[in-house]
Amino acid sequence: MAASGAPNSITSGPVTSVTSGSIASGPIISATDLRVSYGGREVLHGLTFDVRHGETLVIIGGSGSGKSTMLRTLVGLEKPSSGQVRIAGVDITKAGAREMDSIRKRIGLAFQGGALIGSLSVGANIALPLLEHTRLERSTIEVMVRIKLEQVGLSGFENYNPSQLSGGMKKRAAFARAMALDPEILFFDEPSAGLDPITAAGIDDLILSLKKAYSLSMVVVTHELASAFLIADRIVLIDRGNIVAMGPAEEVRNSRQPRVRQFLDRVADSTQDDEVDHLRMFTEGIGKD
Ligand SMILES: Nc1ncnc2c1ncn2[C@@H]1O[C@H](COP(=O)(O)OP(=O)(O)O)[C@@H](O)[C@H]1O
Ligand SMILES: [Mg+2]
Repeated sequence: MAASGAPNSITSGPVTSVTSGSIASGPIISATDLRVSYGGREVLHGLTFDVRHGETLVIIGGSGSGKSTMLRTLVGLEKPSSGQVRIAGVDITKAGAREMDSIRKRIGLAFQGGALIGSLSVGANIALPLLEHTRLERSTIEVMVRIKLEQVGLSGFENYNPSQLSGGMKKRAAFARAMALDPEILFFDEPSAGLDPITAAGIDDLILSLKKAYSLSMVVVTHELASAFLIADRIVLIDRGNIVAMGPAEEVRNSRQPRVRQFLDRVADSTQDDEVDHLRMFTEGIGKD
């Protein structure tokens, strides 16, 4: 083969180029037979699924079904009792601290309750990951913070205190922080929880615009069905720690499978409590062993 003149430092450059070529066909995350227990009680019963490059995978399911646990396990915050999670080829269940650190730089998290630090300005909150993981000059970081705030529709708010922001604005700021390091994968847990419907719709739009602007892979947990179907490429429906359905959003939406139908039709007009009772009812005796 003729010398291409390409640099031989294959370890340095950004890995994001993986998504731009035809290699982008394999999964970016691959979970195999994931089991997670809390204090001896198993809450995820052997889940196997992939997240593909550039897709938005939305995890839906009733309250307590294991959605947050699933997300936390995917990013290494919970240790599965068995099974495997591979992110960009690295088995994070076995990764050492250094390997884990390099994976963390490639992912962005905006979790429920993962609030902004109240004693820091909005700008300083977004600068945190940059200060922690890069050696960029302060002036560069300031520019990057402004860019991130602009991306989430919060231009000019860097000097505000988190307490001065509305609920929707706080979420946007948390998104900006999650995106500080230009991650390849974003993880959101209930991004529109606690927001009024109009503000929540604004967050959906933001997710869609991020997806359009960057070839990000996203994993979003929600119990809001309208939001799920709006933003998802593929959907995973979980119930009590088991995957009930998985597939392209349209396919899941039009599914005739009784368990899926019952969940989708019922949730639309029920409260959370009804939903839990209902799920219990229709899953009784299924997937026990
Ligand atoms: N830190 C924890 N310790 C013990 N049990 C937990 C913990 N987190 C979640 N659980 C339990 O695991 C199950 C799944 O919870 P979770 O993943 O939060 O569900 P979801 O996000 O779908 O509402 C629930 O029964 C919940 O009570
Ligand atoms: Mg949750």
